[in-house]
Amino acid sequence: MSGRGELEARNVSYRYSRAGPAVFDSVSIRARRGELLVLTGPSGCGKSTLLFLLGLMLRPNEGVITFGGVPLSSARERERSRFRARDIGFVFQDAALDRSRTILSNICEPAVLNRVPRREAVRTASDLLDQVGLDLPMCRRADGLSGGQAQRIALCRALICNPQFVLADEPTGNLDAESERLVLDRLQSEAGSGRTVVVVSHSDQVKARASRAVEIRG
Ligand SMILES: Nc1ncnc2c1ncn2[C@@H]1O[C@H](COP(=O)(O)OP(=O)(O)O)[C@@H](O)[C@H]1O
Ligand SMILES: [Mg+2]
Repeated sequence: MSGRGELEARNVSYRYSRAGPAVFDSVSIRARRGELLVLTGPSGCGKSTLLFLLGLMLRPNEGVITFGGVPLSSARERERSRFRARDIGFVFQDAALDRSRTILSNICEPAVLNRVPRREAVRTASDLLDQVGLDLPMCRRADGLSGGQAQRIALCRALICNPQFVLADEPTGNLDAESERLVLDRLQSEAGSGRTVVVVSHSDQVKARASRAVEIRG
């Protein structure tokens, strides 16, 4: 029986095109509430693809993805979007910020979707920026940022609505040791407060802080 906060992929296969090769075949992983699970594996083995599947941005060709036992991989798009907006915080490998908008407006995007009162969202955004070691004016446009700054802003956006599931694709890939430590403190404290955290990473620092590491083979 799946517990609350449990994220499971069971025998999942995925191919980007009907005739193309499978990115991976019959992968199974399970992350429990309170766990910081790290996914590792060589470049191109499908880590980002698997995270998109877990984040309900793609649908598996075979197999099932369940959240607390509910098979959302086959749910209607409306239900998936609603779950994604409320319960999943996703950090893209390339941050995927809207560079024409301010840092604050990027971070607050999920808060607007979830109708969090603005004052509360601004305060949370400011606290999160502090915690990941970013000292930038929130009213600044999100362009001309370093990779490490953009990644940390993307992490703040993922966390602003306190989602049960946090999925982060190489979130410390562009960070110096001190910033990586701060980001890991934050991710570990998410897991410690009962969230379910899945991180794709090669970093030994990340692996050292993880509850478990799972190697993906393409
Ligand atoms: N949008 C896409 N369309 C077609 N193939 C893709 C797409 N994205 C990734 N791939 C392919 O899928 C495989 C896995 O990619 P990816 O999930 O990005 O791996 P990783 O994150 O482990 O480096 C690679 O062979 C890559 O070229
Ligand atoms: Mg990747």
